[in-house]
This record gives sequence, structure tokens and C-alpha cells, in this order.
Amino acid sequence: MQPFHPKTIIEPFRVRSVEPIRFTTLAEREAALQAAGYNPFLLHANDVLIDLLTDSGTGAMSSRQWAGMIASDESYAGATSFYRFEAAVRDITGFKHVIPTHQGRAAEHILFTVLGGPGKVIPNNTHFDTTRAHVEHSGAEARDLVIAEGRQPRLIHPFKGNMDVDALRRTIEEVGPANIPCVMLTVTNNSGGGQPVSMANVRAVSELAHSYGLPLIIDACRFAENSWFIKSREDGYADKAPIDIARELFSYADGCTMSAKKDGMANIGGFLALNDDALATQCRNLEILTEGFPTYGGMAGYDLEAIAVGLYEALDEHYLRYRIRSIAYLGDKLTAAGVPIVQPTGGHAVYLDARELLPHIPVDQYPAWSLCNALYLLGGVRGVEIGSVMFGLQPDGSEKPAAMELVRLAFPRRVYTQSHVDYLYEVIVAVKEQAAALPGYRIVEQAPVLRHFTIRMEPVQAIARG
Ligand code: F0G
Repeated sequence: MQPFHPKTIIEPFRVRSVEPIRFTTLAEREAALQAAGYNPFLLHANDVLIDLLTDSGTGAMSSRQWAGMIASDESYAGATSFYRFEAAVRDITGFKHVIPTHQGRAAEHILFTVLGGPGKVIPNNTHFDTTRAHVEHSGAEARDLVIAEGRQPRLIHPFKGNMDVDALRRTIEEVGPANIPCVMLTVTNNSGGGQPVSMANVRAVSELAHSYGLPLIIDACRFAENSWFIKSREDGYADKAPIDIARELFSYADGCTMSAKKDGMANIGGFLALNDDALATQCRNLEILTEGFPTYGGMAGYDLEAIAVGLYEALDEHYLRYRIRSIAYLGDKLTAAGVPIVQPTGGHAVYLDARELLPHIPVDQYPAWSLCNALYLLGGVRGVEIGSVMFGLQPDGSEKPAAMELVRLAFPRRVYTQSHVDYLYEVIVAVKEQAAALPGYRIVEQAPVLRHFTIRMEPVQAIARG
């Protein structure tokens, strides 16, 4: 027989346990959104049909992960589950010290409490919101140095998450290496559209940072997805296994922060991994204060087990092919329908360009917020604004428009099927048809940092029904 090469990339799993989702009416959603202060973060999840708020901690675990969890060791100190977790992290990252934390931001908190402080500058391709917040909370400055292509939503470039190496050199020269405790690279670049960083860029950033004696720290949340992009887009990697690509990537760095809620395939957890002995000791001392003993660090033994298995599952080729294709599938359909999205589609999400879709809403009335709410009202779909509500408030209290006004539709791992995505496509197209009638929003109440989580808003004019 001749081999058969199917075009359809199928989900590389079958479903053995299901979770019903709840249908609501438009009137019910209008009432729910109003009660939530027009902030999708404040909705009850039960009022959401398709929840694309985040891919963080929302994935489905495998039978192997559940099996590991049942067989976990819950000892306070020195649990077998910790050593399995540590071995997995070391095997993939190569870093010497593995410091478990309850999630990614706890690793950031520990790292920047030790490394940050007034007068310091942390360069990154683009800081995620919690990373930026922890840098700034320490008194340091967070600087985003992604390549210019990474700021142009429609421009096609294989590695839009790359750091501008010249800009990094200028920053180091201007600020002085003594004021830069580390250089960071976020793979994939979440705030810039889930865009990957090339191996060549990691290598160049690493060489430059090391030439000034500066450590390179990877924000590794989506390291497996980034490895897939390197495999499929960068010369010389097509025949390499994702795990070997990941190992090479980490080999250029001196440590990483990780949210295991992403490519750890777990519902909670994270870690800080470092090579430097003295830095690791300082971080462990702080960890005991805030997270717990260094062999559990804010997690249960079963969480450590879920991550130890999940990190490898995230690197499975069949899984990654399906994962990246399912995002591109929605992106292709939307592009064909004339919906403006960040191009090319990234690893974990499709990003709708609200500035383009809602040109009638001025930036100070938060067009991406409006688009996000419209998706919920029309289709029960929850996304997240990545725009001026998330990033506009400056540490001094002033407002500065974000570089882009995006709505991120992040896909939980192994959760939704192709028909969910087809439905989603229909909702987005229906919103596009009513776009001219969507209102701007104004702020009613806000917190001084990370305001988007709890902000309360109101529409600037009544929502017109199409
Ligand atoms: N770094 C990046 C690139 C992230 O995307 C996140 C979380 C974190 C750090 C912090 O990790 O949530 O475990 O504390 N991103 C989630 C998201 C929340 O929706 O993109 P955490």
C-alpha cells in the first residue's frame, strides 16, 4: 500500500471525561456584564460559553498526569514528587537549581525582590503584565525592546518576538551594565501577540548580555510552543525534536522563570531555575518566607507530579502540531473573512486588532475593551483586552496609550474542538458586522496597579442592537 498523507490535523487525544458548558441568552449576558462592571474578569465563569480568557491553568490534564497525581508524595520536606519534578525541569532546561513556586509571578516576585530596586533597568523583548508589575514594584524600570516588526500587527515575519539586539546594546551602554541585573527574553512573546523568538536571536542576545557580564533569564511560559516555531520556521531545526530545541534554547541562558500553567500543562504551579549558586541561595531564602519549604514551594505534591509529566507532554510533536495548527486554523478563516488580526498567528492565541476593527472608538475610550465585551454579549465568548486598559496606566498615575489595541482569544490546551472554533469564527464575524455600533468605555473605578483585573467600566453611549 502507498502511505496516505491526510490534510486534516486531528486532536491527538480522545475525550473520556466531559464538562458541560452553559448556554445563556443575550438578555442574560447583558445583565451579567453590567453586574460585572463591564469587566469580563468579574463575570462568573458559569455565564461564559467559550472561555478564552487565558490559556493559563485552564488546560485538560491527561490520564498520565492524573495517574501521577494519585501516586503523589505529600511529605513536607524531600517528597519523592519534588525530586521527580526537579529531574524533569533539569532534564529539559539544564539549570542547576530548581526552585518551585505556586505560579509564574511568584518566581518573578522572588527574582526581582533580589535583583530589582530603584535605578535598575530590566530589558525584555516585551514584559508580560505581571513581570512588568514585579519589576516596577521593586522600584526598577521595565524596558521593552522587541524588534520594530513586532509592533506592526499586519506584518508577516517568522520571529516577531525577537529582541532588537542593537537597542539592547544601546540600552546597556546608556544605563550602564552595573544597573542591569539581568536581561530577559519572553518565549513566546505573549504581550506582543504570542510571537516566537528565533534560536539565532536567543544566541545573539545571550552573547551580547554575557559580553557585559549580564545573566540572561528566559520567561519560559510557552517554551514548547516556541520550540515548535523554531522547528518549523528556522533553518537547520526541521529534523530536531522539540525537546532538543528547548534544551539548546535554555543552554544559552542562566536561568528561567516559568508558569507551569502554560507549557507545564498543569492547572497551577511554576518555578524559578538558576545556575548561579549565590543567587539561588538568596532566592531560596526568600522562597521559604513567601512560598514555603524549597521542596514544595507553594504547591501540593500532586501539582509537582502533574508538571513533571506535563512538561514532556507539551513537547510531544503530535501535540504541538495540533496545538499550533488549531490557532492558525481560526486565524486563516478570520483573515479570509477580512477580520484584522495579528499576523502570523502565534502559539497560544489569536489576537484581534481593535484599532483597525473599531476605528470610530478613540484610544482613550478603549476600543479593545469594547470589542472584548461585544464578543461576550453576542456569543458568550470571553477573551481578554491587551491594550490601553492593561498597559495604559503609568507608575506615576498618568495614561499612555498602549502600542496596540488587541483582544486576545487564548486557547486552553486540549480543551476545545474544531466545532467550538467554527462557532467562535461565526461570533467574530457577527461582531464585525455590528462593529460601527459598538460603544467606547470609560473608567468608573480602578486599582493603582494591574488595574484590568478589577476595573469597573461603563459604556460611553448605549449599546445599539444590530
Ligand atoms: N510570563 C508570561 C509571558 C505570562 O504569560 C504569564 C501569565 C506570566 C509570566 C505569569 O504567570 O500567571 O503563573 O503567575 N500569563 C497568563 C495569561 C496569566 O493569561 O497570559 P502566572
